[in-house]
Amino acid sequence: MTEKSIPTITGTLTGDFAADSPILAQAGAIIRAGGLVAFPTETVYGLGGNGLDSTASKKIYAAKGRPSDNPLILHIEDDSMLYMLAEDVTDTAELLIRDFWPGPLTLVVKASSVVPKTVTGGLDTVAIRMPSHPAAAALIRAAGVPIAAPSANLSGKPSPTSASHVKEDLNGRIDMILDGGDVPIGLESTIVDVTGDVPVLLRPGYITVHDIKEVVGECLIDPAVLHKPEDGFVPKAPGMKYRHYAPKAELTIFKGGAANVAAAINEAVKKAEEEDRKARILCAGANVHFYPEHLARPMGNDEAGEMIAHELYRALRECDEQSVDVIFSESFDDNPLSEAIMNRLMKAAGYRVTEV
Ligand code: TXA
Ligand code: MG
Repeated sequence: MTEKSIPTITGTLTGDFAADSPILAQAGAIIRAGGLVAFPTETVYGLGGNGLDSTASKKIYAAKGRPSDNPLILHIEDDSMLYMLAEDVTDTAELLIRDFWPGPLTLVVKASSVVPKTVTGGLDTVAIRMPSHPAAAALIRAAGVPIAAPSANLSGKPSPTSASHVKEDLNGRIDMILDGGDVPIGLESTIVDVTGDVPVLLRPGYITVHDIKEVVGECLIDPAVLHKPEDGFVPKAPGMKYRHYAPKAELTIFKGGAANVAAAINEAVKKAEEEDRKARILCAGANVHFYPEHLARPMGNDEAGEMIAHELYRALRECDEQSVDVIFSESFDDNPLSEAIMNRLMKAAGYRVTEV
């Protein structure tokens, strides 16, 4: 899509998520006419276009500056859309759907012939999810078609967790932004390949391997999820191979005991300041006292990891806004969402880790 000079319309949702409310009806009409609308989901904001229209998918890739071999997720609102888009829905898929839809779980299934190749990046599978955010559901209803939507950020930037993040990245490049406030989760959905009998985790998220095993007994993990790109495993989710979620600053993760990590980070900060580089520290709420107050960005204190997940992308974007040069982060591996949190943080750090 050529860049538009007119600013993107912002429609603020006020808790009225009826598909026939004026804002949602307008947004639905834009999607049906082949335009692009950014909208809130429970995970991150999505950049939506008509999932059955290959021209709309091309516009999405262009607006994001995204390589077109990185397929899109189709967002649906009811089961009938699933059976239209999937060639085959395995028993494993049915079990996961029963427990986790609508919600932050994306399923990779065999694609039917109605799915455009531009959506799947040429694959014979398609990623589908049924979001639980009421605004997302209402938008799909208003549009009357499945909505193809990647995260609504410029390619390579952290995913947007508020409408202002979307505006920063895509203003003037898309037709409309639906502002539904902050998203609840803050990290992208879990992606699971359910084309075989045993599900395979392709991207960790809020629904964990533990959650999946509770429903279907087994869950494999794509080896690329657990390794650095240099280790040579090619991820089954094509998007996972790109350097994602990156802030402009150089980010280093420190691993070890809390006191050792704090000492090493404070040393690194001193060195950065001697070199006139602006530093920032991402730390657990309980550890702020270790660090100079004006440099510490507390990420929450919850044992569940939910606050850390919620704050991660926002904190990375704040560092960009404040023209930070170097970010030193504690590692957050002691919570149920650590797989998802550390997967994103490691990518943002380009896998730069200092063990202390
Ligand atoms: O939470 C989310 O999933 C958000 C919201 C907007 O729904 N969307 C999102 O989309 O994160 P995106 O495009 O940023 O990430 C989609 C991921 C990519 O890594 C892509 O490679 C993978 O899904 N994917 C899509 N289709 C696939 C397929 N057929 N097989 C394997 N991976 C697939
Ligand atoms: Mg994305």
